[in-house]
Amino acid sequence: MADVSNCKLVRLPRLSDGRGSLSFVQPGPLLPFEIRRVYYLYEVPKGQFRGAHGHRKLEQLVVAVAGAVDVEVDDGQQRRTFRLDVPDVGLYVSPMIWRNLTGFQPGTVCLVIASEPYDEADYFRNYDDFLAAAAPR
Ligand code: TYD
Repeated sequence: MADVSNCKLVRLPRLSDGRGSLSFVQPGPLLPFEIRRVYYLYEVPKGQFRGAHGHRKLEQLVVAVAGAVDVEVDDGQQRRTFRLDVPDVGLYVSPMIWRNLTGFQPGTVCLVIASEPYDEADYFRNYDDFLAAAAPR
């Protein structure tokens, strides 16, 4: 169920030569889900945050393809923060995790690869509702 220890940094392939670098993401051991959606965050003003929600089923891989961002993941009992600041490392975010994206460097482009199409019914928008589902007492 919800467990931040399932959220892990994933080192992506990087092919670099005199022409520059190329990284790629495809389903396989590094990405344990089929890709059904890709979106990206950009032009995030200094001091702004994104996220602040949880997902019931969605799995994601988050990559700062340019710039840097802090991704805080929270399973209702434990929190961890990962700084993403290179284009060849992604953060796998498992289901039932509340996430906050903060500390966007100017010019950051944050790519998100997702296991499902957009579905508002999959969101927890309220932290208390998330807590009740993720870590019932
Ligand atoms: P939201 O998921 O709240 O963004 P963030 O986590 O970056 O703060 O989505 C913001 C708005 O964009 C919301 O109205 C839903 C819409 N949206 C889509 O239509 N499709 C998508 O794939 C995503 C991620 C969001």
